[in-house]
Amino acid sequence: MTVLRSVVRGTGSYLPDRVLTNDELSKMVDTSDDWIVQRSGIRQRHIAADGEFTSDLATRAARAALENAGIDAGEIDLVVLATATPDNTFPATAVTVQANLGIEQGAAFDIHAVCSGFVYAVTTADAMVRAGTARKVLVVGAETFSRILDWEDRTTCVLFGDGAGAIVIEGVEQPGNADDRGVLSSRLRSDGRHKDKLYVDGGPSTTGTVGHLRMQGREVFRHAVGMVSDVIDGALADAGAVADDIDWFVPHQANKRIIDATARKFGWPEEKVVVTVDLHGNTSAASIPLALDVAARDGRIKPGQLVMLEAMGGGLTWGAALLRW
Ligand code: UT7
Repeated sequence: MTVLRSVVRGTGSYLPDRVLTNDELSKMVDTSDDWIVQRSGIRQRHIAADGEFTSDLATRAARAALENAGIDAGEIDLVVLATATPDNTFPATAVTVQANLGIEQGAAFDIHAVCSGFVYAVTTADAMVRAGTARKVLVVGAETFSRILDWEDRTTCVLFGDGAGAIVIEGVEQPGNADDRGVLSSRLRSDGRHKDKLYVDGGPSTTGTVGHLRMQGREVFRHAVGMVSDVIDGALADAGAVADDIDWFVPHQANKRIIDATARKFGWPEEKVVVTVDLHGNTSAASIPLALDVAARDGRIKPGQLVMLEAMGGGLTWGAALLRW
């Protein structure tokens, strides 16, 4: 009996032109290139231009993914966009992307799970594909975190950046065995008791302002490896796979130390880990598709290989998804 699986057809990404280096930041707040590189692995981040919105970044990444997939925008019947920095409180940024791409059919909505947003979006899109609700889906992660940073707070402003990444997935009948391509399993978790560890101190229903990002970095760090390991274990078990089967580990790009510690825990050598955090900092929901696009385009990730995605962020939320490319 065949099963319907969400197979990745193409990837795309976009980073704004303006690069902000650690040295430039050290002239703005009391920090140094050494501190930032040692504690986070970040060397630079990209900043959206005035008048350049999350939807603009998302549209660029989505166009690149469609072109890479060889799929016309007119075939897309669902746009799922993960972001914590929408253009406006409403409508969803996804509908602006839908309009920018000239898509007049199907549905579009945003997903809000902060840094875990892309894993949540992939899981949601996959569920809708397997239910027969959608066939060809654009899954996008896009953020303009530069707009919600407190540029006088050195504990947060050095860590984040702007960017977007996208994948196109298509529902394809597969044999229903271990060699199936597509999303094989995923695990999502959240625990709102930790909501004050990473949040924005504003919003439409509270202050009526946009607010600024606040983070207890050490506290988030303390939970990170344990939480993501738990969902990775779950995703492996659900697919009947073991850590040794994994060809590529593509984690959320927040901090090189968290990535290294997680990879060590599962016995994945450096050669199997995709790291781009040095180039763009923490771009929240955009970071996994940005990393996927780099590794797919440079030929590292090949069709048939097993890829583990993982993220954790504000909420706290966390999740993992296992897919065969
Ligand atoms: O994507 C969502 C998930 N978020 C994350 O994954 C972030 C998780 N947290 C982290 O990545 C790390 O906790 C940080 C990179 C934010 C910080 O690293 P840390 O090793 O946990 O440092 P810390 O917060 O314990 O701070 C160490 C010291 C402090 O000084 P004292 O109290 O030891 O005197 C800070 O005040 O470093 C100081 N510090 C800085 N120094 C220079 C904090 N920020 C800076 C800075 N430059 N930018």
